[in-house]
Amino acid sequence: MADIESLLKEKRVFKPDSKFARKANWNKKTVEAYRKQGARKPERFWAKMAKDNVSWFKPWKKVLDWKPPFAKWFVGAKTNVSYNCLDRHLEGKNAWRKNKAAIIWEGEPGDSRVLTYGDLHREVCKFANVLKGLGVKKGDRVALYMPMVPELAIAMLACTRIGAPHNVVFGGFSADALRDRINDAGAKVVITADGGFRRGAPLDLKTAVDEAVAKAPCVTNVVVVKRTGEACSMKAKRDLWWHDLMADASSDCPPAKLDSEHPLFILYTSGTTGKPKGILHTTGGYLTHVTTTSKAIFDLKDDDTYWCTADCGWITGHSYVVYGILANGATTLMYEGTPNTPGFDRFWEIIERYRVTIFYTAPTAIRTFIRWGDEHPKKHDLSSLRLLGTVGEPINPEAWMWYHRVIGGKRCPIVDTWWQTETGGIMISALPGAVATKPGSATLPFPGIDPAVVDEDGKPVTPPNGGFLVLRKPWPGMLRGIWGDPERFKETYWSQYKNTYFAGDGAHREKSGYFWVMGRIDDVMNISGHRIGTMEVESALVSHEKVAEAAVVGRPDEITGTAIVAFVTPVGGVDAGKKLSGELLQHVTKEIGAIAKPADIRFTDALPKTRSGKIMRRLLRDIASGKESAGDTTTLEDYSVLAKLRESDEN
Ligand code: WT7
Repeated sequence: MADIESLLKEKRVFKPDSKFARKANWNKKTVEAYRKQGARKPERFWAKMAKDNVSWFKPWKKVLDWKPPFAKWFVGAKTNVSYNCLDRHLEGKNAWRKNKAAIIWEGEPGDSRVLTYGDLHREVCKFANVLKGLGVKKGDRVALYMPMVPELAIAMLACTRIGAPHNVVFGGFSADALRDRINDAGAKVVITADGGFRRGAPLDLKTAVDEAVAKAPCVTNVVVVKRTGEACSMKAKRDLWWHDLMADASSDCPPAKLDSEHPLFILYTSGTTGKPKGILHTTGGYLTHVTTTSKAIFDLKDDDTYWCTADCGWITGHSYVVYGILANGATTLMYEGTPNTPGFDRFWEIIERYRVTIFYTAPTAIRTFIRWGDEHPKKHDLSSLRLLGTVGEPINPEAWMWYHRVIGGKRCPIVDTWWQTETGGIMISALPGAVATKPGSATLPFPGIDPAVVDEDGKPVTPPNGGFLVLRKPWPGMLRGIWGDPERFKETYWSQYKNTYFAGDGAHREKSGYFWVMGRIDDVMNISGHRIGTMEVESALVSHEKVAEAAVVGRPDEITGTAIVAFVTPVGGVDAGKKLSGELLQHVTKEIGAIAKPADIRFTDALPKTRSGKIMRRLLRDIASGKESAGDTTTLEDYSVLAKLRESDEN
């Protein structure tokens, strides 16, 4: 609770700028009216949003069918996500957007491409026909394992056009992690590339695909985008080049008229067990949620150049690089590479060159920029920026102030947006023309969203007490389930409180109603804004032949928010030391991916356990962060373990 207290001392308030507010898509009056309606009649509010912001082939019969924990939104309606992101910008009064940039893409080596709405529509239709030609039918799953190139967005949109749910797997995940996700989703086709550019060098992707697909019998074909031009193996009949298939594809592909509840995509995220969860999102509700929030929170206008730095391998890339932004007919910038290649000013150089107006990134990136020094952003003209956003983890007030001052030139509102893979879209955030901000607070719920902070019995806590963040009403973008595992869906999110969604975050709500989200309270770590389950890393470690037992915890880290610390007991007779550490790091990279690599590995001959054998992570967390353990140790089975662990050196 010390964190909460320090944040509560935050007294700085930033009121919406009147010039910004006058032109905002949602002004104070609009927001007040929507808040009222959202609180009293949330279904009516969301129905209005669905009508105003989404195009439907057939209207709904019922706004919401809620049989907790299963929700159906816009029951009986038909729509198509790619139609909303593309076709409708080429028709009627929007037809002028045909030659407007939909995607501005910048490759890491400095090459670039612009796809207009007309171009993107044609490419998506063609690739949808390619998928059909490979036998992909409505309902079939397609896995995507790609660098941040336009073909990734094209493939996603093509899937939605024919109703084939996609399963994007972040390119940083290992072959084993990819294989598990392909198999769990039962993907028929995999779309990949020969590689992508990262940190100035080509990074191979195809080898991992080959390894994964060798153990994924559900896959019939692999489509390969030529990006780096590096040699890669192509298995006859199974593997096909993107450019060969596209050369003969027709650009005529009407969008499938899909049921509002038709599965849109599956995206895997970490939970408290070793097995990632396939979060399922569906069509009409998700589209309504991300389109509405993009318009209101990012204040998207036709002359904006919007840049979200997330990779499409994460939910942020789905909702706020591709779907929510294109559905508004806006221009989205996609960048392939890292922020320090070729120089530490790469992001600022991109903002200056393209005159980016809206910029959305993660607190961990902001803290990294602070460390690199102000001289890098100061070299560039950032005066085109008018709005800034953050997502992924709590932002510390100092990083917020730096973002405000150095990047925003004190003129840009900052929207700190709280949401999750499971929520589909933003749930708690300032509205830039209407809500005053405080550094470190995500401020207020979006209209129609009903979060609360409750105690163990589900009773709302009174300030200044903290508690568990929950959502008391269903919302359109909510996950519809965990792919293939309805029991886990109920257990994970709906078993703590009756008909209430349990978010897994600790939070505090001040008297004014402002939310301060403090971070995960379960065995899930937030590393640079990405979720990694402690159990996933533990099972990876324990699967190594030299490891008898392992416990993994997070410790606070100045840059990444949390760093992974692993306590490892080697099997008898094995030498614990630098060499074993190295082997284990490699092993975790192979099992999960480099993002799950522990920052420290500490060897110990015993782990602190309760008498019933449960590892006491709380104690390990204290030790990992160098704190004297103030917590209760009365259930500890062997007291001497604690002293020994403190002595255990970082290896
Ligand atoms: C977890 C969800 C939502 C896209 C990126 C992460 C943390 C997210 C905030 C914020 C404090 C935040 C929470 C949440 N989180 N945004 N603005 N303030 N914490 O998606 O991987 O599903 O992770 O990220 O702990 O539960 P995700």
